[in-house]
Amino acid sequence: MDEFTKLLNKYDHPVPRYTSYPTVPYWSESPSSEDWLNSLNNSLANDSSAWSMYVHIPFCETLCSFCGCNTSITKNKSRGEDYVNVLLKEWDNYKAKVQNFTKRPLKQIHLGGGTPNFLSSESFKKLMLPIMKDCNIDKNEFEASIEVDPRRCSTEQLETLAELGFNRISIGVQDFNIEVQKLINRVQSYEKVKMVTEKSRELGMPSVNFDLIYGLPKQTMELFKKTIEQTISLKPDRIALYSLAIVPWIKPSQKLFKDEDLPMGADKRALYEYARKQFLAEGYIEIGMDHFALPTDSLAISVSDKTLHRNFMGYTCKKSEVLLGLGVSSISETTDCFHQNEKVLTLYQEKVEKGDTATLRGHKLNSDDIYYRKKVMEFMTQLEVDIDDDKQGEDVKSFLQEMINDKLVEVTAGKLKLTEKGHPFIRNACLVWDQRLRLKKPDAKTFSKSI
Ligand SMILES: C[S@@+](CC[C@H](N)C(=O)[O-])C[C@H]1O[C@@H](n2cnc3c(N)ncnc32)[C@H](O)[C@@H]1O
Ligand code: SF4
Repeated sequence: MDEFTKLLNKYDHPVPRYTSYPTVPYWSESPSSEDWLNSLNNSLANDSSAWSMYVHIPFCETLCSFCGCNTSITKNKSRGEDYVNVLLKEWDNYKAKVQNFTKRPLKQIHLGGGTPNFLSSESFKKLMLPIMKDCNIDKNEFEASIEVDPRRCSTEQLETLAELGFNRISIGVQDFNIEVQKLINRVQSYEKVKMVTEKSRELGMPSVNFDLIYGLPKQTMELFKKTIEQTISLKPDRIALYSLAIVPWIKPSQKLFKDEDLPMGADKRALYEYARKQFLAEGYIEIGMDHFALPTDSLAISVSDKTLHRNFMGYTCKKSEVLLGLGVSSISETTDCFHQNEKVLTLYQEKVEKGDTATLRGHKLNSDDIYYRKKVMEFMTQLEVDIDDDKQGEDVKSFLQEMINDKLVEVTAGKLKLTEKGHPFIRNACLVWDQRLRLKKPDAKTFSKSI
């Protein structure tokens, strides 16, 4: 057995992805609607505070069988129009109760999904124009980004997005190979992705991201090499190379995958390593766990100036005191609280229409949570973090002894550092800061595996 396979046997087990701390399954102190509004008001009380907005558009015309996102499958476009009305009502509710939203600078808006470009150009305008008018936006610093499914993306939509000030577009590519695409129920041509990429650039959007996934069914190394070659030929500014998260107990469509078709363990990781090597050779910088960016891109710059941040949207260079999530299932974050909206569309809509917050659940962070959240985020963004005192140093050494012996992490001069060899196991090393998980082990079917 080679060394990497031995490491996989030891460490390739379910671990959180750490887009939050505490992680969602460990949320316990749910805020009431009043608590949540108080937390927003307090977090935006300082003149120096700033905020970001996430808007979730859940609709997709068809279901990709690998998908782990919160979606609602429909071809009925009028649902998008009705939904925009509810989003605007939710925004009005917040504006009435958190006045500082309109005062403090809004640094970033991200439209995610589902498929945000399920919405028509008219709906985009109806949604974005009033929000942008209400908010305090410095156009020179503002980032407006959107996830698009290239199969459903028209030139007209791109023109509207550019007109509205969108300057970052993230294209769901996943894999260029037709056989893999058929197995994931997502057939889309290279030409379509090329068109969306080139048109976005022509319209002046400075940053194009591709989402790729490794570990998809029948994604052999030979086929994947071609996908990477085609990716590089379009030179996206950023690339997210996600490990396929296999969670069939949450997403039943993944049960369609045959075990023998799925690259696993060392074979799966080899796909990432191959892509990584090609991207680095092309001048990309590796960022955090699964991202790459050209040195000119703000994400790469934020690594060198240590301002890279991580939240529910993934890696971002716009850190702010508040992330407000609008829309069904959206997650929000303040300096001391997490909050998630109702996940069922009708329940979300009912609460919003009554003028309430659409609170489903959340977590009020205690002082320990706030302390460890900082550690987790530092480690996941900078791959190293300070050890604050001798007692902590002893704990880190004893908890990570096995990983230290395997040369995956180093503890030196008051710092915990991930080594190059330890890169695939960053989530395992991060466990050391996860006090809640250390106190209570998760159910085996909570998180996807680390590789
Ligand atoms: C909301 S989708 C992107 C927008 C649009 N719906 C699309 O598919 O093009 C966000 C991204 O999540 C990633 N994703 C979805 N399910 C995943 C899974 N099970 N494992 C890993 N990544 C996944 C995909 O790369 C996808 O592009
Ligand atoms: S991957 Fe995108 S288009 Fe496919 S089902 Fe998921 S959210 Fe919808």
